Parts: sequence; C-alpha cells; structure tokens
Amino acid sequence: MADIFEKLVKNYGPLGQHRERAHGYFAFPKLEGEIGSRMTFRGKKMIVWSLNNYLGLANHPEIRKVDAEASAQYGLALPMGARMMSGNSVHHEQLEAELAAFESKEDAILMNFGYQGIMSAIDAICGRHDIIVYDAESHACIIDGLRLHPGHRYVFKHNDIADLVKQLERSTALIENQKAGGILVITEGVFGMAGDQGKLKEIAELKSKYDFRLMVDDAHGFGTLGTTGAGAGEAQDCQDAIDLYFSTFAKSMASIGAFMAGPKAIIDFIRYNIRSQIFAKSLPMPIVIGNLKRLDMLKTNPELKEKLWSNALKLQNGLKERGFDIGATNTPVTPVYMKGGVEEATAMCMDLRENYHVFASIVVYPVIPKGHIIYRLIPSAAHTDADIEETLIAFTETKAKLDAGVYQVTEIPDMADTK
Ligand SMILES: Cc1ncc(COP(=O)(O)O)c(C=O)c1O
Repeated sequence: MADIFEKLVKNYGPLGQHRERAHGYFAFPKLEGEIGSRMTFRGKKMIVWSLNNYLGLANHPEIRKVDAEASAQYGLALPMGARMMSGNSVHHEQLEAELAAFESKEDAILMNFGYQGIMSAIDAICGRHDIIVYDAESHACIIDGLRLHPGHRYVFKHNDIADLVKQLERSTALIENQKAGGILVITEGVFGMAGDQGKLKEIAELKSKYDFRLMVDDAHGFGTLGTTGAGAGEAQDCQDAIDLYFSTFAKSMASIGAFMAGPKAIIDFIRYNIRSQIFAKSLPMPIVIGNLKRLDMLKTNPELKEKLWSNALKLQNGLKERGFDIGATNTPVTPVYMKGGVEEATAMCMDLRENYHVFASIVVYPVIPKGHIIYRLIPSAAHTDADIEETLIAFTETKAKLDAGVYQVTEIPDMADTK
C-alpha cells in the first residue's frame, strides 16, 4: 500500500511546483505597514494594486477606532458557540437586519466566511432532484458548492444567454420527466478576474419563460455598484429578481465574514440547515460590530464609491490610451492582458516591483492558457493621482521591455525567502 503522503511530495501541484523559487515573493508575499495605496514589501515602499479595499475602509480612522474599542470591550471569544446553541447576540441580528434592508430583501443570514458560506448554502438548498445551472466562470466557492450537490448540474458558457436558455430547456425537460425538483441558476454580479458584470437583467427576464430561482455571488459588486452601493442587481435594475443575494465582507467592507439575503422563509430555512454555520462558532463580536460600522460608512459616505470610480476610470482610460488591452471590464476590476511565458511574466513582475515600486499580482499558466499573462489591478478610493500616473509609466516601460524580449529568462527568478 502506498503512503498517502508519498504522492504529495512528488507533485506539489500546478502552483506549488514553483514554490522553491517563488515562495514569499510571487506567492505568499508579505505586505507590511498600514493598509493603504502604498505599503512595504521586502523593505521597499510600493504602490499596491492587489487589495480589494475598494472603498478604502481598511484603515479609515473611524473604523480602526470602532474595531479597537469593540476588541477591548468584548475580546475575540464572545459569543462562544454556534449561533444556534449559544453564539447569538443582538449585534449579529442587527447586522442581519441592516444588510437585508440595504439589499431590499426580507432577511439575511451571516456567514463566517464567504467561501464556506455559499458552498454550504448551496448544499442546504438543493436536493438530489434539483438542478443547478451555473456560469462557466463561477468562482471556486460556487464550484465547490456544486461538488456537494447530489443532483444534476449544467454549466452555461460564460455570460452566454443563448447557452443558458439551452441549459434551462434541458433542465426543465428533465424535471418534468422526473416529476420532482426545481432549478437554481447561479452566477456572479461581477466576475472577479475579468471585471465584467454577470448579465443579471437578461437572466432575470428569462424568469417569465422558465421556472427557476436565481442566486448571485456579488462579492465584487457589493459597495462598488448601484446608486446606493447595493451591488450589481441595483446597478442593472433587477434586484427584485435576485432570489438569493450573496456577498463577502472581505472586499468593500475590508473585513471578514459574509451574508446571504432573500425571502424571510428561505433565509430561515438556511439558518436552520446550513451546516457550515450550525456546526461552527459564530463570528466574534468585534467583527460583527466592526461590520456594522463599515456598513454604516458604506451607506453614508457615497463619496468613497465616487472616488473609487474616478480612480478606476483614470486608471482604465490611462491604460487604454497607452494601447493596453483591458478586455471588457465594466467595473473597477482592471485586468491587463499581455502575452508571454510564465518565466517572462515573473521576470517582468519582479522588475515592476524592484525598479518601479509597483506591486501588482500576475496570473499565468496553468490558471490561464499557456502564453498569456494577466495583471489584475484593483483600484480603490485610497489611491492617488500620483499612484496612477507612476503606475501608467511603469506599465508602459515594462511592456516595452517585454515586447523587446528583455525578460526572456529560462527560469523563474529565485526570490524565495525560505532558504
Ligand atoms: C466571487 C467571490 N465569492 C466568494 C469569495 C469568498 O469570500 P471569503 O473571502 O469571504 O471566503 C470570494 C473571495 O474572497 C470571491 O471573490
């Protein structure tokens, strides 16, 4: 019999295989100092484009004060136990009520993490006769939720309404045939890699022809889209058609935790059946109180969203004017598409960090096809004109070097800090 560990140390996986040269630099980097548009990396101050601190709330003095006071008052333990047993509080319930009202839904449930929360909600809702129809570019947490689903699942091509219709036809026929089950369509408000919005309005319109419920992961839309910041449903004027609205607190709220909002009866069902919450300790009080403060600031400081968008458009227009391909983003998420190998991409990324003091995350093969490079820039309300200008110059110069073959190296630069 093989030792189960044996295969693991033979193959560390598609990303892990680079760890000996990449750890601590291209992977698991340590950004230090106060969260902001410039942070310290390996002793150098850099302009940071990797944080989903969209509204700049992470280090807002009022938020830091509330976080500190709530931590001093309650500590991290309170309330002990799962919500259902002993871990509930008025603050948890207040946050749920405020989130539901903000999203124009009857009720909401808090989750400790977005990833586990949405997985577990899918698991709670769908039985073996139900069919899940989902967008091909859904986040890993949705895909993992599907893995828990004992019934059929059909994927539709990314944002392709004609293909979604095909899958709905197929699902409807199967359900009529088996005389049991229903359909749950799952998509995202904003696709976090390419920055394009899910076509929620068009999906919503299909409800007049097909019977299905719609769940939307709006991790990147919450706080950034819509007149009030309620997200992609508000922006596309179809919030009512979203049956279950989900977002994490890890992005615009610059915190941790998540929530799902929807009809009272359904949220109550989830509350009593969601395994990741029933069998887990509830969110600590300082997190809940900190999230209440963040939600209040998000609602009452519209200028933060305006600043985010003004920075996003400056960055995106600047890149486009300089001939960069930023794809079809219609949100602050700013991908920059280039061509090159993994080694070249890492050498370029290193030049950008070491010599231009710009910290940006790159995505390469095997996450995306061979020969492609994506920089994924996340502008925020905390960035300044100088941050944007310096970054545009850095991108222009490093792209010219990429095109001239300057970064053609045979190996990923050895920048690991684990020696
Ligand atoms: C689209 C999307 N859904 C869910 C999550 C997971 O949320 P959390 O970080 O709260 O686990 C993320 C990442 O944070 C995300 O980008």
